[in-house]
Amino acid sequence: MTRTLMWGGATASSQYEGAATVGGKGLDTQDVRPWKPRTSNATCETRLLTASAVAKAKADLAAREGNYPFTRGTQGHDHLEEDIALLQELGIDIYRFSLSWARLFPQGDEAEPSPEGLAYYDRVFEAVRAAGMKTFVTLTHYAIPLHLVEAYGSWTNRALIDLYERFARTVFERWGSMIDYYLPFNEINAGYFSPWNGVGLLRPEDGPYDQSAVFQSLHHQFVASAKVIRAQREICPDARSGCMVAAFCYYPHTCSPEDNWIKLHDEQVNMWYPVDVLACGIQPYYMDAFYRDHGITVDITDEDLELFARYSCDFVSFSYYSSSVLGAADNGEQTAGNLVCSIKNPYLEASEWGWQIDPVGLRTQLNAFYDRTHKPVFVSECGFGARDRLEDDGSIHDPYRVEYLERHFEQLLLAQQDGVDVLGFILWGVIDIVSAGSCEMAKRYGVVYVDADDRGEGTYERRKKDSFDWYRSYIESYHATHGA
Ligand code: BG6
Repeated sequence: MTRTLMWGGATASSQYEGAATVGGKGLDTQDVRPWKPRTSNATCETRLLTASAVAKAKADLAAREGNYPFTRGTQGHDHLEEDIALLQELGIDIYRFSLSWARLFPQGDEAEPSPEGLAYYDRVFEAVRAAGMKTFVTLTHYAIPLHLVEAYGSWTNRALIDLYERFARTVFERWGSMIDYYLPFNEINAGYFSPWNGVGLLRPEDGPYDQSAVFQSLHHQFVASAKVIRAQREICPDARSGCMVAAFCYYPHTCSPEDNWIKLHDEQVNMWYPVDVLACGIQPYYMDAFYRDHGITVDITDEDLELFARYSCDFVSFSYYSSSVLGAADNGEQTAGNLVCSIKNPYLEASEWGWQIDPVGLRTQLNAFYDRTHKPVFVSECGFGARDRLEDDGSIHDPYRVEYLERHFEQLLLAQQDGVDVLGFILWGVIDIVSAGSCEMAKRYGVVYVDADDRGEGTYERRKKDSFDWYRSYIESYHATHGA
């Protein structure tokens, strides 16, 4: 029998909450990312921080200088009840939000959580439940307490596994009965493409990242995921555990056998590796060859492998924004995408940020994930990042977003007809938030507009965009024909 889909919306604490030091919250790895004009080498400078960049950020923040967009987010912390009321009016079935590790454990390694942090998330869970929405909780969406980077070397250090488990147990013990779905980590493969965001690794001042450190950190996050699932099954067995990767829907640049091999191989390492570990419970064979060929060493114990086999997740999920093209080096004009660059695809149009719009790719990915894992699949993020204009009368007309969603929803329903067990669709950045990739406010995903700009100026007032009414009536008519 075909499931009734859940329709949702998502935010992430670091991009949304702001209030970076309120209630004793500790600084985290996102708070110290500076805004840079798009003309500079912004991606590198705002996404891959060095020790000197972090030192400068801390000095700036102490002196109340500089532009650090994640410290203010879109003031979700101060608009909590108003925002939940808007989501209730929107009629979404499920709200995906993340918890700030540093709000609950300001340094990351305290024995007990912060009472102010607990009180804040009590309000969040209660408000979401009172609004009749299911919860989809991301335990960590990129933001790692900065102290853990400075004192422990972040996820390179096995000690983080236990600290993370302590954080997760606190969450399950306090709110487990209110958690429907959860992810131990957002887009876990980001650790590979964006090591500061994903695993909190400092970029060396000169030269590239040490790939052994990157993959050791990822491995530690995999072990932490399994231990978190074990804890959840003891404490709140009704919650459903997931894993999540950024999905890229790769195409080979040409039908040359070499391009096709590159496509398969990169897809394995970039996308399937975490899925094979976390959903299929195996350490995949192809990573041995990858490590050998790149001189990478990763310490993997028998006990780790046993944990993978015993505590695989209940559902798989992915973010999907655009597709990517891969081929032999230097054989095509490049364009940007989520976390990675791609060769341009002549069959597709792209957003202002160069992300190639490919609704059919969503159907392809849903089939690919289900085919590989045979587990229910959640689209945990999808949406259209665009520049919106606030008209004089307070309206925001965003037909481009409606068109993007309409075309992706069609493909989602087709994937369901293909036989994929789809759980639902979560609209990314349902309320405007700071962009994770470029730290901009100019790039917006929401159906709710927040009046703030890249410098943090504005009233932070919330306004419904045209897409708000469109999504509300889409959900309403879907449930009228498919049931609740
Ligand atoms: C995903 C992240 O990578 O893509 C989100 O999980 C992020 O945090 C989203 O916001 C869109 O990317 P961006 O760079 O446009 O914000």
